[in-house]
Amino acid sequence: MATNSLRLIQVADLHLSAGHEHHLDNWRKVIAWAQREKPDIVVVNGDLVMNDPDCEADHAFARAEIGRIGIPCRFLPGNHDIGDNVLSGKMAQRMNAERVERFRRIHGEDRWRFAAAGWHFVGVNSQLFDSGGSVLEAEQWDWLQRTLGEAAGKPIALFTHKPLFLDHPGEHDADDPSVRQSCLDRASRERLMTLARGHNVRIISAGHKHQTRTFSLDGIYYFWGPSTACVNGAPSALHWGAREVGFIDFRFGPHGFEHRVVGADFLFRHENYVRKLNAGE
Ligand SMILES: [Fe+2]
Ligand SMILES: [Fe+2]
Repeated sequence: MATNSLRLIQVADLHLSAGHEHHLDNWRKVIAWAQREKPDIVVVNGDLVMNDPDCEADHAFARAEIGRIGIPCRFLPGNHDIGDNVLSGKMAQRMNAERVERFRRIHGEDRWRFAAAGWHFVGVNSQLFDSGGSVLEAEQWDWLQRTLGEAAGKPIALFTHKPLFLDHPGEHDADDPSVRQSCLDRASRERLMTLARGHNVRIISAGHKHQTRTFSLDGIYYFWGPSTACVNGAPSALHWGAREVGFIDFRFGPHGFEHRVVGADFLFRHENYVRKLNAGE
């Protein structure tokens, strides 16, 4: 890795499965792009597997396919990898210690940090937030506070599968679980944003929504990175960001960062709702 610059790509929501070839076409295109462009590191920001967090075969398949990229990767779990803290029609399995352990065994640590190019990079397991007082959640909060402090004022880019909010940071938790599962709960968000503001967090980059959105608010740049696999909702559904597939190409240096959202022009925009309708769901 060059010491004064870092080219990092965020890929998210790969939704790969051993059982069928959905989305593998796009992932192979991402690999070809990466082998040409040679980024230094890949952040795989959750939802590696298609659907079922307990499908060992899908985890093994995703691990092997991601490994073909031949570039160092850091992984974060999504709701489809280890279950969720909000149960809805989109995910009926709850996050638990066994599922976290499986993720760690197959993909590696579910939270991590490293420093490069004058920046600190921190990945958190968003599925632990609001998990009903789990030991894992308490451990992560302690670790996060310590880790942000160790950056000693250097700029920090924070990665999390779920975005912090939908409309604005002060919003209440939605009553509808299928909306509520879209982002962090209000209490965890407030705690995380207090830490972020106190430690020079400059970037918060998420996946999960399969929508592309980039904006700044009060000194922090928020990214909703697209899925490499598919868009989810029908065109008539409420969307906050662009219905596009792709990934984010970041370049970090001592004086700041640049980004491009790439891939919408050469990946297939697989439409999840079309396949569901076609299957009679
Ligand atoms: Fe996803
Ligand atoms: Fe997700």
